[in-house]
Amino acid sequence: MSREFYQLSLFTDESTQKEENKSEYWGTFKDNLRVPVHRWFTYPAGFSYKAVEYAFQQFNLKKGMVVYDPFMGSATTNIVAKSQGINSIGVEAHPFVYEIAKAKMEWNIQEKAIITFINHLNSNFESKSHQLRTREEFLLSNYFPELVVRCYSEKTLTNLLIIREVFNEYKFENQKERGFIFVVITALLRGISTAATGWPYIAPKKAKVTSEGKDAILEFNKLARAMLQDIKEIQYFSKQNQNASEHDLILCSAKNVSHYIHNHSVDYIFTSPPYLNNFDYSDRTRLELYFWGFAKNWRDITNQVRKKLMTSATTQVSRNDPQYVIDSEFSDHCPKVTDFINSAAFQLQELRKIKAGKKNYDLMLIGYFNDMYKILKECYRVLKYNTQAIFILGDSAPYGVHIPTDVLIGEIACSIGFSSYSIEVLRKRGDKWKANPQRHTVSLKESMVILEKK
Ligand SMILES: C[S@@+](CC[C@H](N)C(=O)[O-])C[C@H]1O[C@@H](n2cnc3c(N)ncnc32)[C@H](O)[C@@H]1O
Repeated sequence: MSREFYQLSLFTDESTQKEENKSEYWGTFKDNLRVPVHRWFTYPAGFSYKAVEYAFQQFNLKKGMVVYDPFMGSATTNIVAKSQGINSIGVEAHPFVYEIAKAKMEWNIQEKAIITFINHLNSNFESKSHQLRTREEFLLSNYFPELVVRCYSEKTLTNLLIIREVFNEYKFENQKERGFIFVVITALLRGISTAATGWPYIAPKKAKVTSEGKDAILEFNKLARAMLQDIKEIQYFSKQNQNASEHDLILCSAKNVSHYIHNHSVDYIFTSPPYLNNFDYSDRTRLELYFWGFAKNWRDITNQVRKKLMTSATTQVSRNDPQYVIDSEFSDHCPKVTDFINSAAFQLQELRKIKAGKKNYDLMLIGYFNDMYKILKECYRVLKYNTQAIFILGDSAPYGVHIPTDVLIGEIACSIGFSSYSIEVLRKRGDKWKANPQRHTVSLKESMVILEKK
């Protein structure tokens, strides 16, 4: 390899990097599985509600202020904001994940309307079942892509189909209640499958340890009632703050929010962007996208979801696409960073020739930072002065080339206008890869990047 690679020290002011064990304050997404509403959807990329609470307390966020999460995901930031009476804005580009987030933020649903739907489903179940089974050529594969068919016993999937049909035909008086039932059915999907559908991978060939088929209708009834109880609990615990705050959830890309969020209107940003670790958010939600009919195949997923998300996986890039060069505005503003990225991309392009999988990590890297530049610019624009943006993220080492995402984001932010950045290491990660010489030996970490706008 002929070119020299920039050293991390080019960017890093050692004094800005603090290492602390903050796990007791920051927790993990598993914490969310124990608390009302947060636990409705196990999003593998989510952060702990405790981290959000801790950050709000540290920043002294008060009622009436506005917090913005440009990568809202399952709405962890917004749910905490709402329970504390703080206004929030959430942006999410994945249409299915957005639907889940929206439903999780509706706490003012009518219990009576939910019970009416549950009763309607129970009393129409047999007749709907009869109707379906007596249809000429009733085949589950006519209703669902193969992946879904392989994840359930025939009986369970037939029952899920009945639930879906009754749901789709039902005339809800309000979207709020419709959204609630949408989440109940979605939450059932992984729990009652007979295959290994745990996150992040779906392995239809692999049976679950406890793979006996569960009764979909019984589980639906249990879950719907448990989730109604959750609404009561969260309302009880946030009773002083009820209706005291406003929440704007937007389905769009954080790359351009100019139609939705005014300049200097946000008091705080707390977010966790996709990491540069080849995690394809659209693919990981395949089961749900296929079940609900958002998509029928890979191409649909690409058009409906993959293309809308910022680049963070090799499945989003193509060598035939000329867009995977550094944007000129980005390189004009941040020459130091873009030189580093170009240099690392060159190294990855060379490694690709000799490594297994021939992964397009070089293009993924360029696409990731082109997108991140635009998103950081939007974050800067919407923030008021004397505020902070907190980014929780991990670094990565595709083909062993270390990409210090935290430092690069801090440097880009300062070129855009942020006055300074600091980094706190939250935890080390990925050490198990050290044991496998096929992977890499770079020690990875998760950090918090704090950007100051003065
Ligand atoms: C790390 S996850 C955030 C999880 C969230 N903190 C939670 O607790 O659920 C990143 C999210 O960014 C979303 N995303 C990816 N590209 C986006 C874009 N261009 N604009 C907005 N959201 C995007 C992904 O769909 C994913 O839900």
